[in-house]
Amino acid sequence: MLLPPALLALSAALLARAARGAVTVYGVQGALGVVTASGTPAYTSDTAAGTAVFDPATFAGPAAFNPVILAPPPPPPPGALSTDVLLQLPSSASDAQGFALSAPLAGPFLGFSIEMSIVNQVIGINSTYVQVPFLNLMALVAERSGGVHVRVGGNSQENATMVQSLPGGTVIAKAAVPGSATNTPDVFWSPELLYMLSNVSSLVDVKWYLGIPFNETTQLRLQIAEYGEAVLGQNILGFQVGNEPDLYVSHGHRPPGWNETNYFDEFGIVVDAVDGDTHIPMKGNLIGPSVSGTWTPEDIWNTGYIDAYASALGALAVEHYPDNNCAALYPDGGFGLPVNPQDVFANYLNHTSAQNLVARYVNSTSIAQSAGKPFLMFETNTASCGGFPGVSDSFGAALWGVDYAMQMAYANFSGALLHVGGQNNSNNPFTPPPTKMSFFEQWTVGPIFYSTLVVAEALGMSGASRVADLALNNGNIYTPGYGVWEDDQLARLVLLNFITDSSGASDYNVSFTLGGPQFGETSQVPPNITVKYLSAESVSVKENITWAGQTLGTRFQSDGTLQGEEQAVIIPCDQTTLQCVVSVPAPGAALVFLSDQALAESTPTTTQTFPTTAMTKTIKTASVAASVLATSNGDSGADRVSLSSTDKNGLTHANGASPFVNDALVATIASALLVMCIAV
Ligand SMILES: *[C@@H]1O[C@H](CO)[C@@H](O)[C@H](O)[C@H]1NC(C)=O
Ligand SMILES: *[C@@H]1O[C@H](CO)[C@@H](O)[C@H](O)[C@H]1NC(C)=O
Ligand SMILES: *[C@@H]1O[C@H](CO)[C@@H](O)[C@H](O)[C@H]1NC(C)=O
Ligand SMILES: *[C@@H]1O[C@H](CO)[C@@H](O)[C@H](O)[C@H]1NC(C)=O
Ligand SMILES: *[C@@H]1O[C@H](CO)[C@@H](O)[C@H](O)[C@H]1NC(C)=O
Ligand SMILES: *[C@@H]1O[C@H](CO)[C@@H](O)[C@H](O)[C@H]1NC(C)=O
Ligand SMILES: *[C@@H]1O[C@H](CO)[C@@H](O)[C@H](O)[C@H]1NC(C)=O
Ligand SMILES: *[C@@H]1O[C@H](CO)[C@@H](O)[C@H](O)[C@H]1NC(C)=O
Ligand SMILES: *[C@@H]1O[C@H](CO)[C@@H](O)[C@H](O)[C@H]1NC(C)=O
Ligand SMILES: *[C@@H]1O[C@H](CO)[C@@H](O)[C@H](O)[C@H]1NC(C)=O
Ligand SMILES: *[C@@H]1O[C@H](CO)[C@@H](O)[C@H](O)[C@H]1NC(C)=O
Ligand SMILES: *[C@@H]1O[C@H](CO)[C@@H](O)[C@H](O)[C@H]1NC(C)=O
Repeated sequence: MLLPPALLALSAALLARAARGAVTVYGVQGALGVVTASGTPAYTSDTAAGTAVFDPATFAGPAAFNPVILAPPPPPPPGALSTDVLLQLPSSASDAQGFALSAPLAGPFLGFSIEMSIVNQVIGINSTYVQVPFLNLMALVAERSGGVHVRVGGNSQENATMVQSLPGGTVIAKAAVPGSATNTPDVFWSPELLYMLSNVSSLVDVKWYLGIPFNETTQLRLQIAEYGEAVLGQNILGFQVGNEPDLYVSHGHRPPGWNETNYFDEFGIVVDAVDGDTHIPMKGNLIGPSVSGTWTPEDIWNTGYIDAYASALGALAVEHYPDNNCAALYPDGGFGLPVNPQDVFANYLNHTSAQNLVARYVNSTSIAQSAGKPFLMFETNTASCGGFPGVSDSFGAALWGVDYAMQMAYANFSGALLHVGGQNNSNNPFTPPPTKMSFFEQWTVGPIFYSTLVVAEALGMSGASRVADLALNNGNIYTPGYGVWEDDQLARLVLLNFITDSSGASDYNVSFTLGGPQFGETSQVPPNITVKYLSAESVSVKENITWAGQTLGTRFQSDGTLQGEEQAVIIPCDQTTLQCVVSVPAPGAALVFLSDQALAESTPTTTQTFPTTAMTKTIKTASVAASVLATSNGDSGADRVSLSSTDKNGLTHANGASPFVNDALVATIASALLVMCIAV
């Protein structure tokens, strides 16, 4: 089957699930918009169609649902872009000395960072009510990359305080902190939070980063590590110590003058406390310094941090956003005039953005490699302070996310986490509807979520992939490309096109050959290659985005599963000219698979989903007696809900579908729970 991309996009649209019925969204906070008689806030009907610029000045809803559509930057003038690109690459990594291949990369490379204060919206209310769309989305990534790394933390981890239980059995409760510089609520969390994360890990291969509060070091609150290790065990990846400490003075967390040396000293206090805490059995998994750019990582390395704390550090990390929308978020915060999103859109639509973002860390990734430590981008996205409406939630951000992540991979980052900030945020990879008890099929999946699918498939799950930036098309900034060598063989190519041009004049073709005398290899091509496209009509759109022909749906219409038939394009290669020709549409991304094995590794044969029907099925197979579970609960047994006492009907949707995983799935995770509870 050889389909041109335009046809592909069209057939994808036709195949996409028929539009669902009217969506009902309830505003829990009262003032989310004018609520109509049907209970639907008025802003939900502000919907853009197609690619026309759309800016509803009266939009009154939360940023995550803003339908604004910006103008795409104009295409380069005719002739400015070379549209016929020759590409010759060595088949074997050992012949690729000229390309500075990265070190081998773990499968779960691009994951998520979820602000602690919104876990109850995004992950679940408690351990028995986990959001099904969240599980579905995590499963999509996990089955492509062999797991997902998720961080729960952010500014809200710093003052977070454990309490044994919270009213209603919830995972967190918030107290507003008026005047707080980061507008971050104070979070109280109960161990139920950790049981909830553990339940998620039992259902999907998700592993967690958590954060030890660092608002002060005179009275440490280490419960997140003590309970975290007891409940989550091997599903803990590490504990961050200090979120953006370079901003502590400006956020009022430390007095003026507090500097890198003070951070070094206070980090040491936590290291000693963890070392001496017998309730934290796993050592060596602390993460720092997580500086955001006000201090450079070198400022911290120069304190002797890595050598002094080598045995305590599991990974080194930074956090960074290329821009901020703080002036819009805090009009009186001294940030100056708000940025007009249209003015910054083009900044995200070329390769210079990814290169600039990553260049400042190349020295540090090399230092980390020498120290034998992973180097993580612990929190990032298009812009801090919520991102830019129309930019952060556009198809352009999806392309930018692919380029940025691949550039980090090339520069020897070990992983990166896209921040999920909640409904007041335009950056979100996914957002539940604006109601406390989200309905199952009403999530909004942000375009940048698609980046995680593309990157997951590009790197595969072998842990043996190495990446090179190919400086494609003579380094043209609109058409970057990457090669992925896996187990020594060139396995995949990632080809991007940032331009929007419906005329076709800015589509480009890559004619590519494997090997050649310059690499000491014979020239060859496989019989055929397979291409999956990330497609949309324009960099500005938010909807009708497809990955290999499948979509996660439009605003308020996702249950976290891909809809439609998967479509990959098989392109026969010319055995006479020894060329395979791949077309890259403007805009779009092409992931080229050079072998059946490379394709198979990245293409899930079955998709684990968590629809309510599956839960109904599972309930019949529940086989672990409640008494077994109750008595295995160790010292927390009294606080836990026993299997038999949970409500089998759960919460029901108007049409009978439960929005949450309920106790029906308990059998699946019972054995994991047994192990976990013994550990407690
Ligand atoms: C999505 O595509 C369909 C079919 O091409 C079209 O009718 C619809 O208006 C598009 N939606 C948006 C938001 O562009
Ligand atoms: C740190 O945060 C906790 C929880 O909000 C608070 O009780 C404590 O007073 C804070 N420490 C300082 C020094 O402000
Ligand atoms: C979890 O939350 C749901 C919805 O609020 C509630 O019905 C259920 O009782 C809670 N479970 C526990 C164990 O508290
Ligand atoms: C959180 O901690 C900071 C110190 O880092 C402190 O200034 C602030 O008062 C704390 N917030 C609360 C509500 O205790
Ligand atoms: C931090 O401040 C202390 C006290 O003023 C000073 O001794 C130290 O050199 C400073 N550290 C750095 C990295 O500037
Ligand atoms: C890399 O970082 C080290 C440690 O801070 C510093 O000494 C060195 O000058 C840096 N090298 C470059 C090229 O920036
Ligand atoms: C490309 O991106 C960079 C960095 O974001 C930006 O400064 C530059 O203006 C962009 N170039 C064009 C032509 O838009
Ligand atoms: C990444 O690491 C590899 C292996 O250590 C090295 O050869 C390569 O130069 C590094 N890349 C960059 C951009 O530093
Ligand atoms: C969103 O922002 C509004 C207005 O500042 C605020 O009232 C609301 O609590 C915020 N919602 C969330 C979920 O943070
Ligand atoms: C790209 O290749 C296709 C198929 O070989 C061809 O039809 C098209 O004209 C080429 N486009 C360019 C810009 O070379
Ligand atoms: C494509 O080539 C592979 C060998 O790389 C072969 O196994 C497969 O059958 C070919 N598929 C088609 C449709 O030609
Ligand atoms: C999650 O764990 C609790 C025990 O902590 C258990 O009672 C509950 O049924 C589990 N929920 C799911 C969805 O498996």
